[in-house]
Amino acid sequence: MRAAWTRRHRLLPGLLALACLATVAVAAAVPLTTPPARAADPVLVLDATFEDGTTQGFRARAGETVAVSTAVAHGGTRSLLASGRTASWQGPALALIDGMVEGTRYTLTVWVRLAAGQSPGQVRLSVQRDSGGTSAYDQVVGDTAVSADAWVRLSGTYVLAHDVDGLSAYVETASGTADLHIDDFTMAYQPTRPVQTDIPALREVLAADFPIGAAIGNRQIIGDQAVLLRRHFDTVTPGNALKWDATQPTEGAFRWADADTQVGFATDNGLAVRGHTLVWHQQTPAWVFTDTDGTPLTSDPADKALLLSRLEAHIRAVVGRYGDAIGVWDVANEVIDENQSDGLRRSRWYEISGLDYLRTAFRVAREVAPTARLYINDYNTNVPAKRDKLRDLVTRLRAEGVPVDGVGHQMHVNVQWPSLAETEAMLQAFIPLGVEQQVTEMDVSIYVNNDESFPTPPADRLLTQAYRYRDLFALYRRYADELTSVTLWGLADDDTWLDTFPVARKDAPLLFDTELQAKSAYWGIVDPTRIDPTPTPTVSPTVSPTASPTVSPTPTPTTGPDTCRAAYTVTNQWPGGFQASLRITNTGVRAHHGWTVRWRFPDGQLISQLWNGTVRQDGPGVTVTPTSWNSALPAGGTVEFGFLASWHTSNDRPVGLTLDGLACTTG
Ligand code: XIL
Repeated sequence: MRAAWTRRHRLLPGLLALACLATVAVAAAVPLTTPPARAADPVLVLDATFEDGTTQGFRARAGETVAVSTAVAHGGTRSLLASGRTASWQGPALALIDGMVEGTRYTLTVWVRLAAGQSPGQVRLSVQRDSGGTSAYDQVVGDTAVSADAWVRLSGTYVLAHDVDGLSAYVETASGTADLHIDDFTMAYQPTRPVQTDIPALREVLAADFPIGAAIGNRQIIGDQAVLLRRHFDTVTPGNALKWDATQPTEGAFRWADADTQVGFATDNGLAVRGHTLVWHQQTPAWVFTDTDGTPLTSDPADKALLLSRLEAHIRAVVGRYGDAIGVWDVANEVIDENQSDGLRRSRWYEISGLDYLRTAFRVAREVAPTARLYINDYNTNVPAKRDKLRDLVTRLRAEGVPVDGVGHQMHVNVQWPSLAETEAMLQAFIPLGVEQQVTEMDVSIYVNNDESFPTPPADRLLTQAYRYRDLFALYRRYADELTSVTLWGLADDDTWLDTFPVARKDAPLLFDTELQAKSAYWGIVDPTRIDPTPTPTVSPTVSPTASPTVSPTPTPTTGPDTCRAAYTVTNQWPGGFQASLRITNTGVRAHHGWTVRWRFPDGQLISQLWNGTVRQDGPGVTVTPTSWNSALPAGGTVEFGFLASWHTSNDRPVGLTLDGLACTTG
């Protein structure tokens, strides 16, 4: 049965404790610099310059030589040279076990250069974690070009999200055994900004539409990340922990630690879980497709039977372990290849078994988890050719009785692509099939091709991204009857798979920034009027100066007229659509609790999305009621909400505007 969800955290309560720990543990090896003047400055925990002539705690990972060198230096006169390497993974390593606190985000920086005479290559910065006799490797900075002619800076962030008994940072090469220098290694942390509690929770904003989810790893379920996750999301998808390479790396030897921890966190916190994924052509160990003596399996009946029995055993184990805790499974992932005339990806699964791997996977998953919703998930489902091939496959499988309940659209998109029309066509294409649909892995890259790379996200890209989130979520909300959830592939920009895919560069594709603060992208969904539209200052419209009213304290009258004022503004209009805001001021003397605002549109305008309120539209009649955070409207107070709507021949102002049945003056 399910393991006990236990987890030991080593989180220390405050930064002071952290600074003390760092001082005590690390000072012996590497000098600690003076604490920062301002709390917001990064705190330098380690600083290895090798200027004192020692390796400052750096050691070889295996048999290579690591020694101080004066041949080249990034700063001062010394660096560290790793020579005599016999494998690409060998290189200088520094133990961090006592200096790094679980759940705190550190920036690791090091300068690297190949030794004179070595041909150019690629280097990367990684962290090795050891626990219970096994090691795991996390990339901090991906493969980066380096030569013997110049220093290159590797800098990335890392959060220790596991209990470990060994931990070290190291520099290695992507291939080859070139001698290499490192210099000026630093480890610093940025005191975190508190998770915002004065902004609406996404899950409340979207409550009437669909559950909202985030992909997670161990890093998202501790510290501030966990606070942010619980606050805004309804569901989680373990991003890697349930994949085959994580759960059954060798035949019959299952590893549950990460999956148990993440599913356990979700269960304990009332979050639903999407199980991702049972059959995929990636992150599947080689043993699955080879026989016991290492020969690749073929489509012979015996080999095919072996493959399908492995698949069945895997699904029985993984799905069986989590039972009701996982209500949705991506049974199959990325099986479509639109460039094949039959649309079927030529994966090892397909080559050995034809379509039987899909038939087996869905049948067994249904048997083990009869109430779970079973999905087929893919990327680029907005591309018409791919979409149609997927639709054909789903139609075919369902006609055979294969229990495919839903289609998952990954939605790894960018600030330019795809168009809204194509995305809408994607959703529409599957409606006639009678399947559920979910958006399963959404992120919006700031990059539009593989050649771009920005050290920090440019303001105009973030703005465009905010509009993309606004428009795509407005579309999703219009299709809320079809979509049973929307999941983002990550929680915040501090940890996104796009930092290393398709190339290594910092991306910022999510709703919260690297400091876990709400981006304009978040406001694009929650309240587009709060998107910061002015990355560069623009001339604001001239308004005639008005004297500020003199406020003299007056006792609040308890009797008097009950009146209201409504200010309606169309903030943006384009062919077929517009954005507007409505500001209601309670000019009367009594407070309105749980207010209702009503009006009629004279020209058939139709609202597609409204923020800061809940909308119902019945023909021309519109009714708006508050959300949980703006239901009180005191005397003298205002509420403001905004919306996106369509219009056709004309777009005249609302008529018959009332607050709790009371006609409001306009202007
Ligand atoms: C990604 C993970 O986020 C990465 O950490 C991992 O290195 C590679 O896989 N489509 C999928 C997901 O279905 O499983 C992928 O997740 C992203 C693309």
